[in-house]
Parts: sequence; C-alpha cells; structure tokens
Amino acid sequence: MNESVGEKYGSSGMKHHRVVVTQHGGPEVLQMVEADLPEPQAGEVRVKILAAGVSAYDLMFRRSRSLPGTPRVPFTLGEDVVGVVDKLGEGVSALDPGQTVAGATFCLGVGGGYAEFVCLPASEWVPVPSDVDPAEAVCVVVNYLTAHMAMHRTAGVGSGERILVHGAAGGVGTALLELGKLARLEMYGTASKHNHELVSALGATPIDYRTEDFVERIRVLTGDGVDVVFDPIGGARQLWRSYRALRKGGRLAWFGVAATKKAGLRVIPFTLLMRTLLALIPDGKRAPLAPDLSKDNVWYRETLTELLGLLAAGELKPVVAERFPLAEAARAHELLERGGYAGKVVLVTSAYPGSLDRGR
Ligand SMILES: NC(=O)c1ccc[n+]([C@@H]2O[C@H](COP(=O)([O-])OP(=O)(O)OC[C@H]3O[C@@H](n4cnc5c(N)ncnc54)[C@H](OP(=O)(O)O)[C@@H]3O)[C@@H](O)[C@H]2O)c1
Repeated sequence: MNESVGEKYGSSGMKHHRVVVTQHGGPEVLQMVEADLPEPQAGEVRVKILAAGVSAYDLMFRRSRSLPGTPRVPFTLGEDVVGVVDKLGEGVSALDPGQTVAGATFCLGVGGGYAEFVCLPASEWVPVPSDVDPAEAVCVVVNYLTAHMAMHRTAGVGSGERILVHGAAGGVGTALLELGKLARLEMYGTASKHNHELVSALGATPIDYRTEDFVERIRVLTGDGVDVVFDPIGGARQLWRSYRALRKGGRLAWFGVAATKKAGLRVIPFTLLMRTLLALIPDGKRAPLAPDLSKDNVWYRETLTELLGLLAAGELKPVVAERFPLAEAARAHELLERGGYAGKVVLVTSAYPGSLDRGR
C-alpha cells in the first residue's frame, strides 16, 4: 500500500501506524510513520493487524527501484497478515467484527502488511480457527501456500516419491518439509550445518550445501537421484545442478531467487534463461512453471482454509524464526540480510497477545 492507495481510502480523521520504505536502500530506510486510518470501501474489510510476515521479496523491493511493480516511495511492505476484523465495508456480510482472519495483500501490489490496519477485499480474508498463534498462522499464508502449490500443483508429488528441498531451513523450505511429511515423501534438504538438526527433526536427510556437492551426495544417498527438486535459490549453475540431481522422469520446481541476496538482481535473467533451456531438453525430465499464487482465488481460499485447519489440529507447526515489534521492522530486515535464522521472521503489533510492541 503506497501513499496514493492511502489517499484512495480517504480519512476518518483517525490515525494508525505503518512502516514505510522512505527511499531505496538498507534496513535503515524503514521508518514507522503515522498515517490516516484507511476506510474500507464497498466489498472490503478493515483488519486490525496482529502479525505480519517478513519475506525475501520485501528485501528486494526495499533495496531496488528497478524491479517490475515497485511502487514509488514511500510505500509499505508486507504480503501476509493475520488480524482481527475491525470494520466491514458496504455489502460485506461473510465476516464478523472481532473474528480473526488471515490474508495476503497481493492485490495491493508489493504489500501493505507492515501496519496496524489494512483494508483488503473480503474475498482475500480467510477465517483463522481459535487458539492459533497469529505468528504461526501468518507463516501459513504465503510460505505454506507456496509450498503447497509447488508440491501439489507444480510438481504433483505422489506418496513415496523422493524429494530434494533447497533452503530446507528457510521459511518455504520448512513448510515444504512439513507438507512433505504429511504426503509421506522421502526427503533430503540442503541447509547450513547449524540448521541440520532442524532439517532432520522435520524428517529430511540434511546436506550441507556449503561444504558438499549436493548432486554427488544425492547420487550416493539415493543411487539414481530424486523425483522432484524444489529450488527457491535460483541462478543458472544452481538450476543446472538441481536438474542433474533428478532421476529419469523427475521434475524441477523452481520458485524463487534467494541467490539474489548474495549475487544481486543480475541472477534473475540467467535463472530464467536456464529454466527455459532445461524445459527444452528431451530427456524425460521436466521443469514445470509454478502458477501464480494470486491468480486463483478459489484455490487460495480452499487451500489456506485447509492449511489453517491443519495448523489448528496440530498437524503443522511452523518455525517462527523471531518475532519483532512492528516498530523494529528495520531490525527484522537486518536479521534477514545477515542470515543464520531458521523459519519465518514475523512482525507483531501492539494488538498481538502478550505484545512485544512496546515503547514505540
Ligand atoms: N514464488 C512464490 O510464490 C514465492 C513465495 C515465497 C518465497 N519465494 C521465494 O523463495 C525464496 C526463499 O524464501 P524463504 O522465505 O524460504 O527464504 P528464507 O527463509 O530466507 O530461506 C532461504 C534459505 O536459503 C538457504 N540458502 C541460501 N543459499 C543457499 C544455497 N545456495 N543452497 C541451499 N540453500 C541456500 C538459507 O539456508 P541456511 O540459512 O541454512 O544457509 C536460507 O534458510 C525467496 O527468495 C523467494 O524468492 C517464492
């Protein structure tokens, strides 16, 4: 949500806080500001945010103005949120004030979640079962949806298949391992050594991508390779090696460019070129393209509802790397820049139960 979107909503004279990217640059460009409280328009719902996710995409949009779709500064990041329904726009009857909901801000552009309140169309909000930690629920919104889509729509995994998950200790990686366990898959995961205990606990055989050749290691461990590689790292060499780790008939599900963290945005065109070339090789392996998460609202609502149900039933236990008060969004970004965490970094507002967001 950027300033112009804020104006679109008009003002009730009341204020809230949001964190804005004041200019492109390091974590220090994130600043908490006071803004007009957005008014829900017809068909929209205003939600008082409890928890908002921090993602690798947020870092890319904070750093660079050259990514397609980057709004003009100042704008607010944050693509996944959990909160309490605060006000219904005209014509909305499917939700009740006070109800806890989860949603993704894709329709606002790059975000809007690093705030105390946000308005989204009612169709973007999905009820969250009671007694669920909002910080855990917010992990489910983008990370588990991405993992579910990559696993069941893009790769179409079947019970007993072998998978290799790169970035296995990351936000999406841990989600893939949790869903892979439920799907009864044989799992391998690349991660730094300090995350191997976690990767093992999530049911996968860890491989240290920093010191081991994962293609060789997969050959040794499996004989003929894996059925599916999930690759959120990207980079031409990385994709080529992931492809080589596949057995005959295997699928490479590429869905991210975490490599940009070290190598910068120039990794993206090389990754796209390599994926296109791999898809042309007539050797029985495939490199299917992941569908866009935001394009199918029926799938989004049904799958998010299913995943939140699994969370409430204790079948999923998302790894929350750390909870930061909203006012300390810059510190959260510093942690993502530094690395060394596992799972998802979450911002919490003063409305979060037992809030950390004190002394703004
Ligand atoms: N397409 C979509 O809808 C979608 C949605 C969400 C995310 N994504 C993409 O997925 C990527 C990962 O997101 P995330 O939230 O999981 O990020 P994250 O939590 O920061 O995790 C990334 C992980 O990558 C690992 N890593 C870095 N370089 C590696 C390498 N060369 N080989 C293996 N692992 C490596 C790190 O592991 P260690 O700390 O163990 O070293 C880290 O845990 C993002 O960059 C984004 O592009 C895509």
